[in-house]
Amino acid sequence: MLLRIFAAISLSFATFARCAPFPDIGIAGGGPPNSPVPVEISVSGAKDVQLTQFLENLEVSFFSAASTNLSTWDTAGYSNSSIDTVNRITAQEEVHLETLTAILNTYNVPLIPPCNYSFPVSSAKEFFEVADLIGSVGISATIGLSQRLALSDPSVARLISSILSVESRHDAFFRDVQEREPNPSPFDTGISAIWAYNIALSFIIPGSCPVQIPLPVLPELTVAQGTMDPSTVAPFANGTNSANSTSGDILKEFTWDPTQVPFVVQGDKQLLAGWVNQANKPVYTPLTNTSEGKGTARMPQGLSGITFVAITTEKFMDVDDLAQSTIAGPAVVVVS
Ligand SMILES: *[C@@H]1O[C@H](CO)[C@@H](O)[C@H](O)[C@H]1NC(C)=O
Ligand SMILES: *[C@@H]1O[C@H](CO)[C@@H](O)[C@H](O)[C@H]1NC(C)=O
Ligand SMILES: *[C@@H]1O[C@H](CO)[C@@H](O)[C@H](O)[C@H]1NC(C)=O
Ligand SMILES: *[C@@H]1O[C@H](CO)[C@@H](O)[C@H](O)[C@H]1NC(C)=O
Ligand SMILES: *[C@@H]1O[C@H](CO)[C@@H](O)[C@H](O)[C@H]1NC(C)=O
Ligand SMILES: *[C@@H]1O[C@H](CO)[C@@H](O)[C@H](O)[C@H]1NC(C)=O
Repeated sequence: MLLRIFAAISLSFATFARCAPFPDIGIAGGGPPNSPVPVEISVSGAKDVQLTQFLENLEVSFFSAASTNLSTWDTAGYSNSSIDTVNRITAQEEVHLETLTAILNTYNVPLIPPCNYSFPVSSAKEFFEVADLIGSVGISATIGLSQRLALSDPSVARLISSILSVESRHDAFFRDVQEREPNPSPFDTGISAIWAYNIALSFIIPGSCPVQIPLPVLPELTVAQGTMDPSTVAPFANGTNSANSTSGDILKEFTWDPTQVPFVVQGDKQLLAGWVNQANKPVYTPLTNTSEGKGTARMPQGLSGITFVAITTEKFMDVDDLAQSTIAGPAVVVVS
């Protein structure tokens, strides 16, 4: 089924329902594109654009609040040009949002209004950390989106690619400002719509979204960013010390809400942490239940950049199948 063009032959900005500030196209370096749009979009493509608007709303809210905050925070350690770059990123995210709005209006698809958000940010340093995380997740979600649109709506794939490369420049900047390598790995990591949606939910005040996205809500999983002290680690059931990794893998501690995660229904199946990084197959390591709502699993070697991890019981080799069989998660781990 296809949704045919509704308003005009180019993106219909006239019908834009204003839910975001007008982007400053001078600062952004340009406004939404004026090239002709395809005559029709698929129903699944329209849903994907709605999900993308849901994610872009979060980015715009984050960056516009942070741009304001940066003018009051102590930014002594950051150059003026870094602050200018943040303001340009904010304006570019607003242009992306307006472009998505126009696409949805063009085919008479309902817009996705913003939710209320909560960002754990109270300094310039924390801003750059969270900006890197949100930016990385946005890139991963857009890679997944590109794959779906390449099949359903190839004529919009070019526009999405041109957004993806700009998002990557933004994240390279956030990494550089934090003195991390701007290019940690040869491939970025694509994730499915379900995972992208659930990571976004961790920044959203529950019950505050005026419109629900029809995707499953998964139990939340958190993972400690640091390395565990091996002496505190409980042994595996077979008596070996779980900290004695022959491969030098890093042990990670996971936390979940035991009332939310129905691990009991898994019976005696081994719980697994499924790790997704770059364009590789997921890697699985056993998850050991250490106490109520807590467990440990090894992070495999050879990961770089950011990696996504979720709890499951099946070793799916396809990232989208892992997303479908996720028991809790995903969590994001900044590996390098
Ligand atoms: C902006 O500052 C307020 C007040 O300190 C804080 O609550 C909020 O999380 C900050 N948001 C961002 C995105 O920086
Ligand atoms: C940064 O901007 C402030 C305010 O505009 C100015 O006082 C300061 O000299 C600038 N610093 C540099 C290094 O350009
Ligand atoms: C969301 O924010 C608006 C405006 O600040 C407020 O009126 C509303 O109560 C909030 N909703 C929730 C669920 O927090
Ligand atoms: C003990 O169990 C762990 C986790 O299931 C496994 O990785 C390890 O190979 C086992 N060791 C032996 C000696 O069976
Ligand atoms: C684990 O490491 C400790 C200390 O390095 C060692 O004594 C112990 O034998 C190791 N256990 C296994 C199962 O390798
Ligand atoms: C995990 O460990 C806690 C405390 O040891 C226990 O109450 C709970 O039943 C365990 N869960 C599973 C699935 O084994």
